[in-house]
Formats: sequence, structure tokens, C-alpha cells
Amino acid sequence: MKRILVTGGAGFIGSNFINYILENRDDVEIINVDKLTYAGNLENLKPSEDKSNYHFVRGDICNHELIDYLFSKYKINSVINFAAESHVDRSILGSEIFYQTNVIGTNVLLEAAKRFEVERFLQISTDEVYGSLGATGRFTEHTPLSPNSPYSSSKAAADMMAMAFHHTYGLPVVITRCSNNYGPLQFPEKLIPLMIINAMHDKKLPVYGDGMNVRDWIYVIDHNRAVEAVFEKGKIGGVYNIGADQEMPNIEIVKLILNSLGKSESLIEYVKDRPGHDRRYAIDSSKIETELDWKPKYKFDEAIVKTIEWYKTNKNWWEKIISGEYQKYYEKQYGK
Ligand code: NAD
Ligand code: DAU
Repeated sequence: MKRILVTGGAGFIGSNFINYILENRDDVEIINVDKLTYAGNLENLKPSEDKSNYHFVRGDICNHELIDYLFSKYKINSVINFAAESHVDRSILGSEIFYQTNVIGTNVLLEAAKRFEVERFLQISTDEVYGSLGATGRFTEHTPLSPNSPYSSSKAAADMMAMAFHHTYGLPVVITRCSNNYGPLQFPEKLIPLMIINAMHDKKLPVYGDGMNVRDWIYVIDHNRAVEAVFEKGKIGGVYNIGADQEMPNIEIVKLILNSLGKSESLIEYVKDRPGHDRRYAIDSSKIETELDWKPKYKFDEAIVKTIEWYKTNKNWWEKIISGEYQKYYEKQYGK
């Protein structure tokens, strides 16, 4: 039986991962440790919360006593580390918590994983560690790391630490580097949910710079199918890029959202650019496709419509976040 410590499982990708895995498999036990920061939301885990092979613990990955206790109590034999401060704009406003969670927190997990001799440690990384591309080319696993934001530098540091633990101690590490995700349960600070919700309220849609920065989009379930493949079959010590070959300039996505909601493009407002804004990301995922037989299943045109529909029919989910109700509930339930 795989007893997996999943960190950050109350966030966007982690919760989609847990729900997806537990819907499809009963040969794993998942222990979800999440600090429930502003981005963590236990509502996301409704489909999984009553399953006997699912356990939730509120906690910080930087707390080594708690992490050691969890390894020993649940006889953890593998780790998937989703937990992170994930929003680039926030990292520009204040970097400290990014280095705390993404670097120190990862180190605490690596140390525990070494002591408890896990069978696998999967570090969830990002294509942002490669930096920014010009008009052509794509990131491969051999592209040198060249992170530009406090967020991406903290993720690159974590990748290097994970690899150092592999080389020095033989820790069975694998790393995934995925492009921009979209789908249900994404916190409404990220481009796609923010634009959908603003458009629904006839609020301005703030587009940074000239709107021509390019991101390479993947539906969250395709990311999670890839995470499962790397977790099961990825070569120890390996890095796997994950992407769905779907590059789009931001302005095109914003217009697509407005059009599909029947709203006017006059809601678009070009605003001051993000400092150090990476121009273009594009992922070459041929390695995972050939080595692990993974391919994206979802086409952007269909999955973006599905995503917009999800935000339209799940107002209750994001309205509570926007009004700060969840935060108050968690503080009452769990303390600050
Ligand atoms: P998110 O911000 O939605 O969720 C992060 C989760 O981690 C939250 O539930 C939060 O409460 C938890 N967390 C934060 N600090 C913690 C700590 N110290 N201890 C325990 N839990 C903590 O993020 P996401 O978009 O779901 O991203 C998940 C992972 O995937 C991150 O590692 C991110 O770098 C990576 N990633 C994200 C994307 C994307 O497009 N969102 C793309 C590639 C990689
Ligand atoms: O590439 C993977 C990364 O994608 C992940 O590692 C990060 O965790 C995740 O947050 C995401 O980072 P980005 O910075 O690319 O995502 P964000 O949604 O913040 O922005 C996407 C693009 O849209 C980017 O070029 C900035 C732009 N943007 C964003 C916001 C929030 C705007 O123009 N206006 C906005 O209001």
C-alpha cells in the first residue's frame, strides 16, 4: 500500500489531484498536510473527505516536529510536495514567506523523507524555473535554470535541493515542471478565474503591460494525470516537463472570456506591467510523452468553456472566498 504524504492538498492543484486519485483508486492512502493559508480551502475536498483512505491534518511543512510525527504515525512511504506560496505578484510584494515555505519547508520534507527512507519523493515544480523565452523555442529538461521572480527563484532552489538530496543521499527524487494550469477550484487571484469573475461583475479586467505575454495552458486534470504517471513510473533522479502545447497571449484569453460571457471588450483595462514580467513560456513535453506514454486529453477550446461554466455555476464557492468568509470560518475552527 502506498501511504502518500500529499502537502498543500487544499490548494487548487493539490485538491484536484486528491479528488482525482481517490475517485479512481483505492490502493493508496493519502495524508494531506496543509497550513490552510489564504489559498487553502477544505471545501475543495468535499468529494474525498469521508473516504477511509483520506486523512487531513492542518499543519505547516516548515514544522519539522509535526512532519516527523506524521511520517511515523502514518508510516509514510512517499511524498508529493504541492505545498507552496504560488502567486508571482504576491512574491513581488513580499518574498519572505515564499523562501520560508518553498525553500525551508521543502528542506524539512527532504530531511524527514531521508530519515524515514521513503520510496519516492515527488517535487512539484514549475516551468517558471527556466526563466523567460523570446519569440521562439521551448523549454526542455536541459534548459538551464534562470528564474526571474522571488517565487520562481524559491521553486528553483527547492528543485536544486531535491536533486542534491538525490545525489548525496540517494533519496529517490523525481521532479515535475508544469506550465500554467486552469480549471475548477483555482483561487481567484490567478489570471483566468480573476478575469471570469470580474467580467461577471462588469468590473474592469486588468491586463498587464501590452497583454502580449504568452503562457502555455494546461487543464488541471491533465497536469494531475501526468503527476500520477511520474509518481508511478518516472525514472528516479529524473525531471519531467509537463505541458499541453497551448500557447496563448494573455489578451487573447481575456477576449475569449469576455466573448463567451457575452461581455464587451471595453471592460479591458491595460495597467502597469508586472515588474520583471516573463515574456513567454512554452514547454516541450516530449520526454514524458515518449518515456511515460502520457498525453494531454483536454483540448483548450473545450476545457476553457467547461472552466467558465464551472465558475458560473459555483458562485457560492468563490463568493465566500471574495467576501473573506472562509478565512473567518477557519480562524474560528482552527485558530489563526
Ligand atoms: P495554491 O496556492 O492554490 O495552493 C497552495 C496550497 O499550499 C494551499 O492549500 C496552501 O494552504 C498550502 N500551503 C502554503 N504554505 C504551506 C505550508 N507552509 N505548509 C503547508 N501547506 C502550505 O497553489 P497551486 O496553484 O495549487 O500550486 C500547487 C503547486 O504546483 C505549487 O508547488 C506550485 O508551485 C506548482 N505549480 C503551479 C502551477 C499553476 O499554474 N498554478 C503550475 C505549475 C506548478
Ligand atoms: O507557469 C506556471 C506558473 O503559472 C505557476 O508556477 C504559478 O504558481 C502560477 O501562479 C502561474 O504563474 P503566472 O504568473 O504565469 O500566472 P498568473 O495567473 O498570475 O498570470 C498569468 C499571466 O497573466 C501573466 O503573464 C500575468 C498576466 N496577468 C495576471 C493577472 C493576475 C494579467 O495581465 N493581469 C492580472 O490581473
